[in-house]
Amino acid sequence: FRTATLDPSPLTLGVSTTVLERESPGPNPVTAIFQDITDVERLEESNRRNERLGAVAALSASLAHEIKNPLASIQSAVEQLASGRVAAGDERVLRNLIVGQSQRLSRLLSEFIDFSGLEMGPRSDFDVGPLVDEALGLVRQHPEVQEVKYRVHRQGAAPVWGDRDLLHRALFNLLLNAGQFAGDGGTVLVEVSVLNHDGIDLSGGGGYAVRVSIEDDGPGIDANDLGRIFDPFYTKRKGGSGLGLAVVHRTVEAHDGSVYVEPVADGGARFVLLLPGRRQTS
Ligand SMILES: Nc1ncnc2c1ncn2[C@@H]1O[C@H](COP(=O)(O)OP(=O)(O)O)[C@@H](O)[C@H]1O
Ligand SMILES: [Mg+2]
Repeated sequence: FRTATLDPSPLTLGVSTTVLERESPGPNPVTAIFQDITDVERLEESNRRNERLGAVAALSASLAHEIKNPLASIQSAVEQLASGRVAAGDERVLRNLIVGQSQRLSRLLSEFIDFSGLEMGPRSDFDVGPLVDEALGLVRQHPEVQEVKYRVHRQGAAPVWGDRDLLHRALFNLLLNAGQFAGDGGTVLVEVSVLNHDGIDLSGGGGYAVRVSIEDDGPGIDANDLGRIFDPFYTKRKGGSGLGLAVVHRTVEAHDGSVYVEPVADGGARFVLLLPGRRQTS
């Protein structure tokens, strides 16, 4: 089959065929319509590229914005110190500001690297219960949650099929958020269970899902914010980066699981993770 065109570049052709039923004997005639869909394809590719570039631009703009303010404070403090016309008391304030803002920048960038470099490693079968305990052990060392009560409920084994390190980080972020928002004197309730209901099957082969729910008695989440909390850099927490839930979301996606917020009767927030389980080999 040949096309006669002056342009040597390859064409993408769409073809549709129709069989015409004939009453008289003999083979039915067939019509085939060839259509040059090269332009349609190019347009689609260009739209996809635009979407990708749009997302990259939005993310870069947010990152630049986050870096700009602390950097401007550092710059101004350094300039004032360099001018040599700073009162002794102010000098200490400026030095502390430089240290504080540099730490903030470095924390932001390492969290960003965690987010952007997130990659699914090799999967294995493991019980998510002990992993929750491990992540919680780390969270408990965080200075902001020293006065928070954490309680964990789990029944039996809850084996999942996943990347243990990534899930450790996701659980850490959720447990830390819960504690930070519960605040001093607050309580966080963690539940790990196995779902066997019909229709819930994340393992692709008649398996089951593991559910981890993390509920706190903090202020809860505004209905208006629900659609944005998983966006990178979206934060309402003083000193927050807004990258914690973005990491959680990417991790869960990579596992073909899901994460969502459930309404809680008397305020507070409940985050639910559904992860693909694996049938235990007996
Ligand atoms: N347990 C929670 N209770 C109330 N709001 C929450 C909770 N977890 C997350 N959020 C909301 O989602 C935002 C984004 O969270 P996250 O991505 O972890 O970033 P950060 O902790 O740096 O603010 C928080 O600033 C807050 O507005
Ligand atoms: Mg967080």
